[in-house]
Amino acid sequence: MIYLNEKLVPEHKALVSVFDHGFLYGDGIYETLRAYNGVVFKLDEHIERLFRSACMIALEIPKTHEMLKQAVYETLKANSHNEAVIRITISRGAGPIGLDPALCPKPTLVIMSHEFKKYPGPYYRKGVKISVVSTRRNFRDALNPQIKSLNFLNNILAKIEAKDRASYEAIMLNYRGYVAEGTISNIFFVKDNVLCTPCINIGILDGITRRIIINAAEEMGIKVREGYFRKHEIYRVEEVFISNTTMEVMPVAEVDDIRTGMPGMITKALHKAYKKKVAEYTKEHKQDRLL
Ligand code: PDD
Repeated sequence: MIYLNEKLVPEHKALVSVFDHGFLYGDGIYETLRAYNGVVFKLDEHIERLFRSACMIALEIPKTHEMLKQAVYETLKANSHNEAVIRITISRGAGPIGLDPALCPKPTLVIMSHEFKKYPGPYYRKGVKISVVSTRRNFRDALNPQIKSLNFLNNILAKIEAKDRASYEAIMLNYRGYVAEGTISNIFFVKDNVLCTPCINIGILDGITRRIIINAAEEMGIKVREGYFRKHEIYRVEEVFISNTTMEVMPVAEVDDIRTGMPGMITKALHKAYKKKVAEYTKEHKQDRLL
């Protein structure tokens, strides 16, 4: 079942107009969330980011924070999902051809839930390969990567390059050549026992997983540096990993054909700490399942 605007409908009835500006112009925003044991992890944070994205594109979400929470749980339960990936999409809505948002009186809201499919075991045991691609991350003052927008061509062009190089993820540099982020993930590396990650000012998405990892590292007494890093700085380091809501902490074994090696101690410890935070959250928010 799909939540479309006001109600749940079967998948074959979940249809959106060809005049929707999400389809015509990529005009809209979204969030990807993960449910563990029937509890949606960091639901408030994701909905807050959705509202921030909406604000940055001058889109008024026709629902309150609480209404969206409720709709997410309704969708999850209608599909009887416990371990799930949920996507909330809000587009500008249907309207005549033309860029003016005022042409679209009513945004389109879609919530989907899919059974979470585990990543292949070797991805975590051995690590994945990533490549630094030539496609640059969107310039912050042109299309701010902090907007989790439906306009994904920047990331798709990078993904095509990664696929050509048989890489799992593409790492984009920003317009000045600083390491930015992956197509759907943030990047971390460990050098001289310091956990390093590009700072938000580079022009990246403020990943919810990224923030949890930084906090976990600090709690564990690991030094963290959010900064400006050049491409060569992520070669021949002790450890590299990427993060997002569904991957959590994904070890990287190879960057541009340079081997980093097997998943390192800090990567493993941070993934364990992340899983612990998920377990604590799920326990604390058990009652959310009744929403
Ligand atoms: N992507 N950077 C980009 C460009 C992303 O698209 C994502 C998430 C992240 C990590 O954010 P978070 O930790 O909040 O998931 C970083 C989601 C998973 C997606 O596109 O479906």
